[in-house]
Amino acid sequence: MTCQTSLRAILAALAGAGLITAAACGETGTEGAANAAGAANTEGAAAAHADEHAADWRFELAPLPYAADFLEPVIDAETMEIHHGLHHQAYVNGLNAALEDRPDLQGVALEDLLAQVSGLPVAFRNHGGGHWNHDFFWNSMTAPGTGGAPSADFAAAIDDAFGSLDAMKDAFNRAGGGQFGSGWAWLIVNEAGALEITATPNQDNPLMDVAAVRGTPILGNDVWEHAYYLNYRNRRGEYLAAWWDVVDWSVASERFEAAASAD
Ligand SMILES: [Fe+2]
Repeated sequence: MTCQTSLRAILAALAGAGLITAAACGETGTEGAANAAGAANTEGAAAAHADEHAADWRFELAPLPYAADFLEPVIDAETMEIHHGLHHQAYVNGLNAALEDRPDLQGVALEDLLAQVSGLPVAFRNHGGGHWNHDFFWNSMTAPGTGGAPSADFAAAIDDAFGSLDAMKDAFNRAGGGQFGSGWAWLIVNEAGALEITATPNQDNPLMDVAAVRGTPILGNDVWEHAYYLNYRNRRGEYLAAWWDVVDWSVASERFEAAASAD
């Protein structure tokens, strides 16, 4: 290995590990690279930069938007740590592995992959769905009792579709409780622009072209046992009922407003 090659490998490794920034790779000119490694090394820095960009298509696991114990006692910290750090990470890894074999799809938005998932290897359905669903799920929740209430327009749409907020929750809980095996319960804005409750198996979601009922998710609850088993054991119904206490209605309202204005 030549000195130049060795330096390039080291810079590439540092960039890959996030230990040097784009500036150090020369994106904003050679100043960062010159300061870091000297002007003579800009070729190696540029190569590292190219390597960094070559891997830009990879999906990454975002940190939880709150501490693992933030949702207690509704969802315990250990469940959150395992669910996010192991299960969600595995979906991210699986999706990236599937993309390794499909350079034509690298850099495509996840939602666009899901919309054409019927024509893709099943790993995209399972792991792509798993990644999207869990990101959506983490960002749907807040500390118990602090989630507020649906916006006026959202509340009116709920009343129109279900009769009341409690009736909507009951329908949602029945969908989640009735989903055989693993899956998700959803509140969506369907293709006709109305609120609707649906459920999907495994890591499917209503964005997929394989979904029986398609639409824009507003809320989704994970009814895989890994989401609740440590605390609730086999009592899925208790988990579904308790979950409403951590729903962030401001986030759900924003999603509803965006979906409604997109019609
Ligand atoms: Fe999950």
